[in-house]
Amino acid sequence: MHVMQSLILGIPIAIAAGSPVLVERAPTSAFGLFAYGDGIGGAPLFTTGDGAFIGTATHSNDSQAAQVEFIANSDNSLVANPNTTAANDPTWSNLTFSVPNTTSSSHQVGFSNSTSDDNRSGSGFVFYGDFLLHKETSGDLQSMWYAVPSGQDNIWTLNWNYTDDDTDGKVLVTLKTTPPSKAVDDASEA
Ligand SMILES: *[C@@H]1O[C@H](CO)[C@@H](O)[C@H](O)[C@H]1NC(C)=O
Ligand SMILES: *[C@@H]1O[C@H](CO)[C@@H](O)[C@H](O)[C@H]1NC(C)=O
Ligand SMILES: *[C@@H]1O[C@H](CO)[C@@H](O)[C@H](O)[C@H]1NC(C)=O
Ligand SMILES: *[C@@H]1O[C@H](CO)[C@@H](O)[C@H](O)[C@H]1NC(C)=O
Ligand SMILES: *[C@@H]1O[C@H](CO)[C@@H](O)[C@H](O)[C@H]1NC(C)=O
Ligand SMILES: *[C@@H]1O[C@H](CO)[C@@H](O)[C@H](O)[C@H]1NC(C)=O
Ligand SMILES: *[C@@H]1O[C@H](CO)[C@@H](O)[C@H](O)[C@H]1NC(C)=O
Repeated sequence: MHVMQSLILGIPIAIAAGSPVLVERAPTSAFGLFAYGDGIGGAPLFTTGDGAFIGTATHSNDSQAAQVEFIANSDNSLVANPNTTAANDPTWSNLTFSVPNTTSSSHQVGFSNSTSDDNRSGSGFVFYGDFLLHKETSGDLQSMWYAVPSGQDNIWTLNWNYTDDDTDGKVLVTLKTTPPSKAVDDASEA
């Protein structure tokens, strides 16, 4: 199946190192990320300053919750600041986005002040079109995002690599820099 088709369907993919289909081109200005999957039609990524969530930050019961405005660094790390237009004005800023390493048993996608954690990868974030992928140390590219119900309505925890995660209600998602079109909004509310 074609890479783009898999991404659109939200199927986890792996692209071998050096694959010619890749155009690694990061956005040059600040951007938000939006999750797409079964029943999740472009919900924005937000954080409370630690874990990553998808949904509307202002619907969270945490006063630190705010939609994230990302900046792509030249070293393929992503720096997170609150988008105060979209939400609250929290105390966190300048956090580094990270996913668990291949050797980690954690599934949590998160943010931290520090770029050095042996069990997490805070770099290797590359884009295929509008889709966010992660480049492993092997050079392979992966899209292994998934969402788990958080316990609050319409808010999911954003996770990475569902292998060995038996949580009920998991939804495979893709992350894109493009917000939902009005048409998608209407479809998800119908
Ligand atoms: C910030 O939020 C506003 C309101 O939702 C949105 O229009 C804007 O595109 C967002 N900016 C970024 C960089 O995500
Ligand atoms: C996903 O998790 C499995 C089991 O923990 C691990 O073997 C594999 O390397 C992980 N893959 C990635 C890309 O993190
Ligand atoms: C980041 O640093 C600030 C100030 O030192 C601290 O209050 C905050 O808890 C830290 N956040 C994270 C996610 O480590
Ligand atoms: C932002 O975070 C990075 C990495 O943790 C750090 O090197 C840099 O000094 C911070 N910048 C500001 C303005 O706090
Ligand atoms: C990394 O994982 C190992 C094994 O689970 C653990 O002992 C270690 O404390 C972790 N390191 C960090 C920085 O979390
Ligand atoms: C885990 O991530 C850190 C930080 O990016 C990196 O230095 C380390 O080599 C990674 N380990 C593995 C096993 O991928
Ligand atoms: C927010 O809601 C979650 C899920 O219902 C709950 O576990 C948590 O304690 C709540 N937090 C606050 C600060 O009310």
